[in-house]
Order: sequence, then structure tokens, then C-alpha cells
Amino acid sequence: MKHFNIAIDGPSGAGKSSLAKLIAARLGISYVDTGAIYRTVGYAVRSLGIDPDDRSAVSAILPSIEVDAKFEEGHQKMYLDGVFLGEKIRENEISSYASKVSSYPEVREFLLETQRKIARENSVVMDGRDIGTVILPDADVKIFLSADDVCRASRRTAELRARGEEADPERILEEIRERDRRDSSRAAAPLRPADDAILLDNTHLDLEMTLEAALGIIREKLPGIC
Ligand code: DC
Repeated sequence: MKHFNIAIDGPSGAGKSSLAKLIAARLGISYVDTGAIYRTVGYAVRSLGIDPDDRSAVSAILPSIEVDAKFEEGHQKMYLDGVFLGEKIRENEISSYASKVSSYPEVREFLLETQRKIARENSVVMDGRDIGTVILPDADVKIFLSADDVCRASRRTAELRARGEEADPERILEEIRERDRRDSSRAAAPLRPADDAILLDNTHLDLEMTLEAALGIIREKLPGIC
């Protein structure tokens, strides 16, 4: 099969990873979660007791940490200095660390080649914030997935509760708004749709409907692929 890449960008809680996993399974290609890669750096920063608002302290640790994404049985597993992190990167506190460290150009530069190499070596559905704009500007299909912030906060609350974590819906909504502001207003690779991205708003769509809409976009760009 021809090598191809699909980029899915959008704000937190739009359902990028759920959608990307289904597309990857349908097309028999790998799903790459770039948020997990930033979360791993956020995790390293917290483990070392570094203030995530201190850009120079965060930048200073980069040469001495090893961030590795391995694909085992089709699943992406994140390793920090050779140690598998599992669900630890999914903690709510790590979301905020990841959002802060991902605003530093040094961190983005540090992770750029890791992401491009995965996409060169595999056909992928890669989700993130700057996949269509910076990481894979030549991606065959670019989808910008969004939903309104209240809808995204309620999905995130349900997800945390399903994992047994405490979740206050009001606080989650505030955090989502804060992350949206930070992710979209940062100078380095701000969240924005690529000029050639197709916008898909799934506020009123369930996952199955979102998948059908996305597959429609993919068929237009890659006829015969699914
Ligand atoms: O998608 P996520 O919530 O797991 O991402 C965690 C943080 O990482 C999020 O605040 C934005 C950042 N991120 C980014 O800046 N660029 C990406 N390609 C992916 C995530």
C-alpha cells in the first residue's frame, strides 16, 4: 500500500485521539499521539521538581532526558529514560505541565524530528496541535477537529471520572479555556488550522458520526483508500 499520512489537529477534548484511533484501525495504519510525547516532557519536568513556568530551567534538562515513543502491538507506549510511563502521563496535573512546556520553542524543536521520523517510516494518523502546519506540512489529509468548549469540558469530565479521578466540571471548563488560550496564543506553533485543512466541528456529532464525516474527507483526498 502507498505510504500516506493523515494529520488531525484541534483543541483539547475535541475527541482527536478517539477519532484517530478509529481511523487508524479502519485503514490498518498507526495512530500517533503527539500530546503523549509532550506529556512525557511535562512528566519529566514535574519529576525533577522543576517549575514549568521557568523556560530556561525546562530547556536546560532537555539534553539529559531521553523521550521515546515505541509501537508495541499497534499501541504507542511512552518511555522516559528507558522507563515505561503507562497512564502516569494522563494525570490531570500533567495536562497543565504539558501545556506549559509545549509553549517553549526549545521543547518543540527537541521533539520535532522524533515526530517526523515516525511519519516517514510509517503510514500514520497523527494528532496534535501543529501537525498540519509544522510537523507534516505535506500530509495527504489534514483535518481540524473542534467542538465548543462546554461540550469538550463535559467529555473531559466524563473521561476523568471513568478513570476514577475526581473531576469538578466547572474547574475542568476553566482549565480547558486556559489551555485553549495558552495553546492558541503562544508564539511557537500556535494552534490554528493549516490553510489546506478541512474543518470538522463535532459539537453535535457522536463518535460514530464524527468517524463517518472524517472518512468522507479522507475518501475525497485519497480515493479508494477506504
Ligand atoms: O492532546 P493532549 O491534551 O494530550 O496534549 C497535551 C498538551 O500538549 C496540550 O496542552 C498541547 C500540547 N501539544 C502541543 O503543543 N502540540 C502537539 N502536537 C500536541 C500537544
